[in-house]
Parts: sequence; structure tokens; C-alpha cells
Amino acid sequence: MPPVRRAYATNLGRMRTIPGAWRRAAAGAGLLSADGTGSPTIFAEMSALAAQTGAINLGQGFPDSDGPPEVLEAAREAIASGVNQYPPGRGDVSLREAITEHQHRWYGLMTDPDTDVLVTAGATEALAAVLLGLVSGPEDEVVLFEPYYDSYAACVALSGATLRTVPLRWPDFQPDLDALADAVTDATRIILVNDPHNPTGAVFSAEARAEIVRLAQKHDALIVTDEVYEHLVLDGSRHVPIATLPDAAERTLSISSGGKTFRTTGWKVGWVTGPADLVDAVLAVKQFLTYSGGAPFQPAMAAGLRLGDDYFTGLAEEMRTARDELGAGLRAAGMTVSTPAATYFTVADAGDVGATDAGEFCRALPERVGVVAIPMTAFVRPGERADVRTLVRFAACKRLPVIREAAARLSRL
Ligand SMILES: Cc1ncc(COP(=O)(O)O)c(C=O)c1O
Repeated sequence: MPPVRRAYATNLGRMRTIPGAWRRAAAGAGLLSADGTGSPTIFAEMSALAAQTGAINLGQGFPDSDGPPEVLEAAREAIASGVNQYPPGRGDVSLREAITEHQHRWYGLMTDPDTDVLVTAGATEALAAVLLGLVSGPEDEVVLFEPYYDSYAACVALSGATLRTVPLRWPDFQPDLDALADAVTDATRIILVNDPHNPTGAVFSAEARAEIVRLAQKHDALIVTDEVYEHLVLDGSRHVPIATLPDAAERTLSISSGGKTFRTTGWKVGWVTGPADLVDAVLAVKQFLTYSGGAPFQPAMAAGLRLGDDYFTGLAEEMRTARDELGAGLRAAGMTVSTPAATYFTVADAGDVGATDAGEFCRALPERVGVVAIPMTAFVRPGERADVRTLVRFAACKRLPVIREAAARLSRL
């Protein structure tokens, strides 16, 4: 038998003795157990459960079909024509130009591809580099809207900043504006906004966006936006980046990536745009994280960003159909369901079908009906937010027949 690498899980006991910043990251993400060991994320646990049971995986949000053929072909062509070495640290010029064109075409934003755009290893690296680069220490506070995407709290913890949270509450998940006004103070360094929002599928109201800008101005804070779901607004309207609001651009870094828009989550090509001095500060950290990456995928992403409007509207239409079919299945089971305005995430209340704990419900769901989902408690600070205790997130980013089958199974709950 060839030697087999021992699985991560079997090393958890030994991890307890290993010092280092991993503890901050794990604790920030709520993954440090009382005995000092780290635990794998709920996404890993649920995906393993899906593999074990053969259940339909509506847990982790990755598509099960390929992106547009023009984009895939552009990557193949780039590899064949020798685009295989380090791209420039700021990113391939054609991609930076395509990002600039995209920001102008969709939102009217003006950015200079030489100074205001930085290509990163997915939005994840952009978020890490922004937080590590722009936060000085515990005296700096970062305001997050909770529930939040799991890498946020881990990176805030790694950066050494102090975390402040503002609740988004079921069923509309709009920010509590009084809590926002309390959370943002002169100590706030960054207000981190994920709009459209994972895990809730909410699109922030115009009032909430304006209040974020007003408070950032009042307290001289930066705004960082994560807009990876920018092309998954499902009601036919166009996404509104906070950077387009009056007086916002000068203090806003906008982050996005191509994974969701072009069904290429494994390519990890992202970007950050904003004022040149802030982008330079982010580059100063990013260059020592990955320096650069994904050479052949960068021109391919440029081809994607230059696709006609029909590609983008078609994608949103497909996702709307998936949302509606999944929602119908969940309602048929007797659950109250959010109708997400964007993204491919739908939240349902498992309390309506007798659950008292979404984690237990999700662990049993594959055996019960052959579907995997994620408890909302994975997106909040451990032990906080009793109000989300029975909420469950379903990701409807699979092919329509798969969503229909999942909806049918769920309706039998
Ligand atoms: C809100 C949010 N931000 C960032 C990411 C990660 O983006 P990327 O794959 O480009 O790093 C995800 C992926 O699920 C996400 O949901």
C-alpha cells in the first residue's frame, strides 16, 4: 500500500500544542474548541456528509455546471499560447482594463486600470489583504453585518482589529439602522458590507446604503464592499455599488470576483478597485501573500467581463427560476421561506417543521430526505443570536433538474 497522508481530523489532538496565529483565525471563525483544538468548517463537514450519503449538496455554494464556453476557451487558448508564468503583481493588463470597462459599463464608475485596480486570488485574498493592510491593531474596529461570510471574522481576528457586529434579522435581513449608528464610532476603521448578501440573499436598501456612507463620513471610516454576487440580483434591477453613492468613492474599496458570475469558483480570480492610495496599501500586503497567480485565467476572466449583457441577464434569470422552484419545495414542506432578492441562497425556518436546532436538523437532513444544507448558526458568533437558531441556508446554484429533485425531496419533509 502506498503511504497515505493522515487526514486533518486525526491531527486535531496534536494541534492543541501548536502555537501561532492559526488560533486567532480559528477563534475568529468560531472553530476553536474549548480543549484548544481546531475544528473543520461546517461546509467541509456537510460536503463530506453529502459525499457519504449521496445527498444533493445545497450546502456549499458552488455550481455543478461549467461557465460560458467563450471564457473556458480563452483560458485554454492562454495556456496553449504560453501565458503560464507570473503575471504582473497588479494583474494582467487586459484584465485590469476589462475590470475598468465593466465598472463603467454597469455602474458608471470611473477607475484607472494602472492605479485603481488590483487583481487578487479571488475575493477571499482581496478581503484578507484589505483587512491586514488597513488595520493597525485592536484600537481599530471593523463593523460587520451578522450573519456574515465566514472568512470575514477570521481575517478580522488575524488583522488584530476589534470586531463589532450589526444584526440582520429574519425575515427581510435588512440592517438594524439604530444598531448600525451605535456600532460605528470614531474607533471604526472599516465598515465591511456584503451586498448582495451571503448567507441571506438580501440586497441592502437604499436607506441602509446611504446610512453606511453617512456614518463612514461622520466618523472618517473606510467602507469595504464585497460584491461577488453583483450579477445575481433576481428582480431584474441592477446592482448598486456603494462606491456610486455621493461622496462614497473616495473612502470605498470595492471587491468582487469572477467565480460566481462565470461559474468558475475554482479559478480564484478576484479584484479590488478604489482610490489609488488605498489600493497601493492593499497591494503592499497582497504582494507578500500570493504576489500574483492564475496567469491563464486572468485573460479568460477579461473575456468574461466583456460578454454581452444577455449573458449576465440570462444568468440572473436562471437563478431566479432555481430560487422559485426551491422556495416552492420548502413551502410545500410547511416552512416559512425568505424570498431572496439576490444570490442563490434561500433561508427557511426549520422551526416550522419541528426543529429546535438548525445544526441538528442539517446533520439529519441527508438521511431524512437526501439533501444537504447549512445551519445559519455557522454564520454568526458562537452562542450569539438565538434568533437564527432554527434557520437554514439552502444554495440553489445547481442545474435546474437537480434543484427540482431537491425541492421534491424537501417537500416531503
Ligand atoms: C460573500 C462572499 N465573499 C467572497 C467569497 C469568495 O470569493 P472567491 O471565491 O472569489 O474568493 C464568497 C464565496 O462563497 C462569498 O460568498
